[in-house]
Amino acid sequence: MIFLEGGRVVDPAGKVDGVRTVILDGERVREVREAKASPGEREAHEVIDCKGLLVLPGLVDLHVHLREPGEEGKETIATGARAAVAGGITTVVAMPNTRPVCDSAAVARFVRSRGVDAGFARVLPAGAITRGSLGEQLADMAELKEAGCVVVTDDGRPVMSAGVMRRALEYARDLGLTVMVHAEDLTLSAGGSMNEGPVATRLGLSGVPASAEIAMVERDILLADLARAHLHIAHVSAAGSVRAIREARSRGVHVTCEATPHHFTLTDEAVAGERASAPGRPPPGEPYDTHAKMTPPLRSESDRQAIVGALADGIIDAIATDHAPHGPLDKQVEFQSAANGIIGLETSLALTLSLVRAGDLPLARAVERLTSGPARCLGLNVGTLLPGAPADVAIVDPERLWTVDAHRFFSRSRNSPFNGWTLRGRVLRTYVGGRLVHLLEEG
Ligand code: DOR
Ligand code: ZN
Repeated sequence: MIFLEGGRVVDPAGKVDGVRTVILDGERVREVREAKASPGEREAHEVIDCKGLLVLPGLVDLHVHLREPGEEGKETIATGARAAVAGGITTVVAMPNTRPVCDSAAVARFVRSRGVDAGFARVLPAGAITRGSLGEQLADMAELKEAGCVVVTDDGRPVMSAGVMRRALEYARDLGLTVMVHAEDLTLSAGGSMNEGPVATRLGLSGVPASAEIAMVERDILLADLARAHLHIAHVSAAGSVRAIREARSRGVHVTCEATPHHFTLTDEAVAGERASAPGRPPPGEPYDTHAKMTPPLRSESDRQAIVGALADGIIDAIATDHAPHGPLDKQVEFQSAANGIIGLETSLALTLSLVRAGDLPLARAVERLTSGPARCLGLNVGTLLPGAPADVAIVDPERLWTVDAHRFFSRSRNSPFNGWTLRGRVLRTYVGGRLVHLLEEG
């Protein structure tokens, strides 16, 4: 057994917040107790001193692009799962927009078994809603569920047809599956490459209005209500979306959602590289930073504040990274042509702790949004240290300062807007199923 002793254990699902000893017994948590290891236990078992550290349930990330199969130069299941545990993330849901798309049992089984072989974070496949994620014919959701998919989504693209989405929600409901949506009305977003607003006007870039997201959030809430299905809204970025979700929940619609660290940390000003003067910013003469380009785009300060408020009051259930690896050539191009997306597995926890330090989010709630909150969204039996739970643990030094150096990431890609930032809070050790899968190398 392994005794993690003397740390501040924060396990919101287990209603624990205080100095405790966490005992791991093989693949499972045995107990969380006040007493330290006895002399006899000390003799017989491994005891890790966690004084001054946080001991958390392993983090659960509902939204990760691993790029395998098909684009292994950007990321593989193994490199992504390794990066996850370096960030304290012990469960990742792998988005299906791979090549081929994960719309069949064969691809889903491949993703799952690669994850098991890698032996780092648990890798749970998401299946596509429609074949090839083309938005036309429904994928065989029963087959996908049978093959281990924990959710269906066409992430990266919306299902534009309301009729197809209605059927998808009905099928998913009958199978007990959640439908995760990338809410974007393409007729509103077409041609835009950043948030529509004063910053886009100043920079001379074409905009994507927040209503491109809000309109789809509203539509999908209507359809989920009609179908009596569970809808999960990915990467909520706009205040209007939060408002719509809050209203739907108050009526009893089964809708959950997530937000990303970049949307609660940055605004559209980052497109001009103005919020940070750190290394890694665009060189002089480069007016735009393509590392601030993603869908949905970074929004205004009032949107950012709405996201933070909703994380605090629980309308947003989960923090998810939307880790989206891209190669240098995808980003070192004109802003309009640059690929959408940034990596996030190795910076998510520290950025969340920044909100805690700013007084925007109590620590226990932050941990909930990173662990049991996301687990609850999809009914996953992880994200807690209750007795019998999988022995997935992150041990974190909340005060440790470190400078983000994308070249030292475990991820195969480097496209982080936080490169060069100094962050506080570092994962020292991560356990998955009782196995030590990450130990921070000092120096
Ligand atoms: O920025 C994004 N990148 N948004 C998405 O929805 C997809 C993702 C990707 O796959 O690169
Ligand atoms: Zn998406």
